[in-house]
Amino acid sequence: MSRIPESFIADLLDRIDIVEVIGSRLQMKRAGREFHALCPFHDEKTPSFTVSPQKQFYHCFGCGAHGTAIGFTMEYDGLDFVDAIEELARSISLPVPREGAPAPKIDTDLFKVVAAADQFFRRQLKNSPAVPYLKNRGISGATAQEFGLGYAPKGWNGLMDYLRDQGFSKETMDNAGLLSGTEKGRAYDRFRDRLMFPINDRRGRPVAFGGRTLGSDDDGPKYLNSPETPLFHKGRQLYGLSNAMAACRHGGEVMVVEGYMDVIGLAQAGIRDAVATLGTATTSDHAELLFRTAPHVICCFDGDNAGRRAAWKAVEALLPRLREGRQASFLFLPQGEDPDSLVQNKGAEAFLALRQAATPLSDYFFDHFSDQVDLHSLDGRSRLVALARPALEKIPDGSFRDLMFERLQRTARMERQISRPPMERTRQSSAPARRTLVRSAISCLLAQPELAAKVENAGFLAQLDMPGVNLLLKLVDFLHERPNLKTGSVIELWDDRDEARHLVKLAASILLDEETDLAAELTDAIEALRKAHLKQRVTQLQEKQTRADLDAEEKHELMACLTELASAR
Ligand code: UTP
Ligand code: MN
Repeated sequence: MSRIPESFIADLLDRIDIVEVIGSRLQMKRAGREFHALCPFHDEKTPSFTVSPQKQFYHCFGCGAHGTAIGFTMEYDGLDFVDAIEELARSISLPVPREGAPAPKIDTDLFKVVAAADQFFRRQLKNSPAVPYLKNRGISGATAQEFGLGYAPKGWNGLMDYLRDQGFSKETMDNAGLLSGTEKGRAYDRFRDRLMFPINDRRGRPVAFGGRTLGSDDDGPKYLNSPETPLFHKGRQLYGLSNAMAACRHGGEVMVVEGYMDVIGLAQAGIRDAVATLGTATTSDHAELLFRTAPHVICCFDGDNAGRRAAWKAVEALLPRLREGRQASFLFLPQGEDPDSLVQNKGAEAFLALRQAATPLSDYFFDHFSDQVDLHSLDGRSRLVALARPALEKIPDGSFRDLMFERLQRTARMERQISRPPMERTRQSSAPARRTLVRSAISCLLAQPELAAKVENAGFLAQLDMPGVNLLLKLVDFLHERPNLKTGSVIELWDDRDEARHLVKLAASILLDEETDLAAELTDAIEALRKAHLKQRVTQLQEKQTRADLDAEEKHELMACLTELASAR
């Protein structure tokens, strides 16, 4: 897909007003310079959700959710970045331009050919052997229709002939993953005599298929899935998401299960917020998708060893996404049951009761380790710390992270506080609060971007060996080039999305209504960094001096640094 030009995003952010965007979706009340509302991302009785028109930024003091109008639209409407931009542009009737090469034609053709195949499979369902199969498994006609189930007929080229008559080339069919054998020059339908499950993207467009054998004989694998295509990446797709999104809206839960039939069986029993991974482990992309759908993710796995392994993979994927306001739980089913069999045998109530009692991630996390180490021995406890700490370090800053570290400490019955993160510990001797300096400078600049004008000669930052200084320098340069930006625009115009996520967090760390003197705080931070740079330079030069002679220029620099340091004290 072609890119949306930066200038357009700047323009859009200039024209839309976060107050209008959020106000059209939530009931807001003015409170001084800000607006308050009940937070849509967690349950609350008194409003702690705050929107700042000055900063074009929102922040919830209850759950920590925060971001720009674009971020809000993504979270609230469940859209990705480009879709959110389009949605906002549409709301003010602004056409979205694209830059660079036009979107390759093949992309739209791929959507079309998969949609045509979907239609074909659905039409084949009637009178097919898949109908008695579904009946046998207790799936109603209405459910089959809701999930667009279909049938891929026996034979080698039913679909291929149909699609050819619709004007699609073999190449397009192949690129969409609908054929097999093309590499041997002998193309035939990939899916034959199978019950077909269309896999939809978030907007509900079919992008791939899963096909189940109807018999138990040697018809190949039980489930055959589309291969990876430009439209379909297993690690970024969740089966049933477009259906579940409606059920998950407004701060509910979303449940991840393992199979197609689980999603469908649950939905038929009235549990409509389930999605499935597609025969893969839970990835970090899945985790992000899940949390964007609902703030509480429940992972449902088999109670066997494979299920436990899968659950731990999910823990690893979820931890880095567990920011304030989000939570995860784990539900292990009795041996031999899967969600589909359980609701069929015991009913939805019984299933929901189990789900109600799902284990919070925090408990599961420590249970997982207590099985592996002997907490009665000192060695075991130190091993627990060694195993658990790297995982806990992935949790974003916030109270959940703090609580987990406290619990680790309690579980390991440590006398002294476990240092975190270890990076700080190794650097402690030289500069205990350095990380906070850089963060504080960045936060000030984000809260009041016009302060960048006060930061002159920031080039020294490039030589400073300290985490985050590169980002700080980049931010200063960025703001010098673009004066008059608001917080929200800085974040959305940032070129690196990972860094932007980090910036959003730092922006929220300065409370919106706080009347701190940001200008003074920024000046202090920059001065302290300048001093740290001088010290670092002195140390470097003195070290060199012990090994070799300094040249005239270096001697001069050393003197200058020492003089400046002395006067800075
Ligand atoms: P299961 O075998 O648990 O599937 O595999 P299921 O949904 O319970 O199947 P039924 O009830 O027998 O119809 C879980 C998931 O793993 C993937 C599929 O995504 C399936 O839904 N899988 C499984 C495959 O991709 N290929 C296979 O051969 C088997
Ligand atoms: Mn099953």
